[in-house]
Amino acid sequence: MASTSHFSLFLFSLLLLLATTSPATAKNPSALVLPVTKDASTLQYVTQVAQRTPLVPIKLTVDIGSRFMWVDCEQGYNSTSDRKVRCSSPICQFQLHGCGGNICSLGPDNRVSNTGTGGDVVTDVLAVQSTDGSNPGPIVSIRRFPFVCGNAFVLQGLASGVTGMAGLGITNISLPAQFASAFKFPNKFALCLSSSTNSPGVIFFGNGPYVLLPNVDVSEPLVYTPLIKNPVNTASGFLGEASTDYFIGIKSIKINGKALPINKTLLAISEEGKGGTMISTVHPYTVMETSIYKAFTSTFVKQLAGVTRVAAVAPFEFCYNAKGFVSTRLGVGVPQIDLVLQSKSVVWSMFGANSMVEAREGVLCLGFVDGGVDPTTSIFIGGHQMENVIMQFDLEKLRLGFSNSLLFRRTTCANFNFTSNA
Ligand SMILES: *[C@@H]1O[C@H](CO)[C@@H](O)[C@H](O)[C@H]1NC(C)=O
Ligand SMILES: *[C@@H]1O[C@H](CO)[C@@H](O)[C@H](O)[C@H]1NC(C)=O
Ligand SMILES: *[C@@H]1O[C@H](CO)[C@@H](O)[C@H](O)[C@H]1NC(C)=O
Ligand SMILES: *[C@@H]1O[C@H](CO)[C@@H](O)[C@H](O)[C@H]1NC(C)=O
Repeated sequence: MASTSHFSLFLFSLLLLLATTSPATAKNPSALVLPVTKDASTLQYVTQVAQRTPLVPIKLTVDIGSRFMWVDCEQGYNSTSDRKVRCSSPICQFQLHGCGGNICSLGPDNRVSNTGTGGDVVTDVLAVQSTDGSNPGPIVSIRRFPFVCGNAFVLQGLASGVTGMAGLGITNISLPAQFASAFKFPNKFALCLSSSTNSPGVIFFGNGPYVLLPNVDVSEPLVYTPLIKNPVNTASGFLGEASTDYFIGIKSIKINGKALPINKTLLAISEEGKGGTMISTVHPYTVMETSIYKAFTSTFVKQLAGVTRVAAVAPFEFCYNAKGFVSTRLGVGVPQIDLVLQSKSVVWSMFGANSMVEAREGVLCLGFVDGGVDPTTSIFIGGHQMENVIMQFDLEKLRLGFSNSLLFRRTTCANFNFTSNA
């Protein structure tokens, strides 16, 4: 099984390779792979790429729906290959941008701490590992990879060692779009979040196979649901343009097969961009608008009436003595949660491993959080609920393909073999 030592080995070999590889592009890879580690203290999902000349590894918090990659250029940015982007460049035609002294600028933002700034759009060398789906392969690089310069202020609240954020949103300068256009592979990526803070999960860019130990190709079968465009920006502080976040259309929520009484207006996205369900990697747990949260928790908790409640552990309200549950392959035995999508047959089912959180030793809490009254977005599906599920975002077909819990298939998102076979 993959482990911390595999990961350290991976980072070590990445550094070794960086020291010996020139930034000349190897033959076009058909897919790329990045590690994604859950940071133990912030619960952020952190990835790592190599950038600049000479190449240095940089850590980035993943914000799946945000618009581009940004890094702190204020502290320790040394490179002989960085270039500012002129306003006339095609890269600068993207969305709302500024222009000062003929240098293109955009606003890097941090949705963990809700901070933002303005920054120059710059290109520099970016290097990542290719993959055949089973192991990392040769490192490939892009000479002029666009990103936005942030500063130390915007790093507020990010995990230790992180110097920027990786945006994977619906734009043409996000990581997946840039990788797809540089290497001529399909504009899609698959996210597989690990539940462990010791063993990384993985993000694949491009088509499958996506192979996890012991030799399980999790690129199929997948169930598909449309990605829904929100006409109004959902990033902090930017209005007047469409959202770049990933929304899916939940039609109803069932607990043990019974639909909850939910105001359906909240599940749809209005013309003003309100409501709907966003996939978010900056929320560690799923957040629900108050009336949905109340319907959800009261039904769930009623079904657990036989289990001993214990004191709440923030941010959770409903916590139990762990001894009161039976354990199953899919986590502790609790009522099944079904998110019903575009039709009755397209359902995202969640079991104990994704619904309950060990908030303290021996204490399991229902891992959903109250999002308050009248929020802009009604539901954020957070990290814990996505762990050990493969989620493929297809930007060409605008659809999300997702698997059942990989625990059904006796593997996990921590099981990618990061030992390079290059
Ligand atoms: C960047 O370069 C300067 C000047 O050569 C040097 O003093 C500094 O230590 C370098 N910083 C990093 C992070 O490499
Ligand atoms: C991004 O898209 C915009 C409009 O959709 C287009 O004008 C621009 O050329 C594109 N930029 C790149 C780098 O492809
Ligand atoms: C449903 O939610 C919408 C949007 O918040 C609200 O305007 C409407 O009054 C709600 N309907 C009911 C029956 O509560
Ligand atoms: C991981 O990949 C390496 C390189 O291909 C291989 O030697 C090793 O056996 C693999 N590990 C497992 C557990 O299969």
